[in-house]
Amino acid sequence: LVLQKIIPSKTTDHYNNPRNVGSLPKNDMDVGTGLVGAPACGDVMKLQIRVDKNTNTISEVKFKTFGCGSAIASSSYLTELVRGMSLEDAGRIRNTEIAKELCLPPVKLHCSMLAEDAIKSAIKDYQTKSNRGPPTLGKNL
Ligand code: FES
Ligand code: FES
Repeated sequence: LVLQKIIPSKTTDHYNNPRNVGSLPKNDMDVGTGLVGAPACGDVMKLQIRVDKNTNTISEVKFKTFGCGSAIASSSYLTELVRGMSLEDAGRIRNTEIAKELCLPPVKLHCSMLAEDAIKSAIKDYQTKSNRGPPTLGKNL
């Protein structure tokens, strides 16, 4: 980890200037949509990915989060993280990585969980649609 990347103000920056806010056309065959909620507080996150079929990597990411600052920062950071990633790698992202990167306090851990759930759900949606998911990603999603 680069030290510069773990300064606490990163959360504030992502909250004030969230990256990749918006929507992708959910009926497109190369788009996967994840819509998840946090039971702890009722906050909701929608995350969408566009997948390049040739490389099986994520070419575009958009999100909308109806939730707290940490959830917005987590999803904004996640969108930057997963762009260009293979589906397999993106499916392995853990909320603890996001929480660590953003220096989230324990009480805000579930906010980063929302981001992990959202990317998994988006990948699953894409794979269900395109019917070409690798078996290894099956049940853990
Ligand atoms: Fe979700 Fe605080 S409980 S915004
Ligand atoms: Fe519930 Fe952050 S998502 S307080």
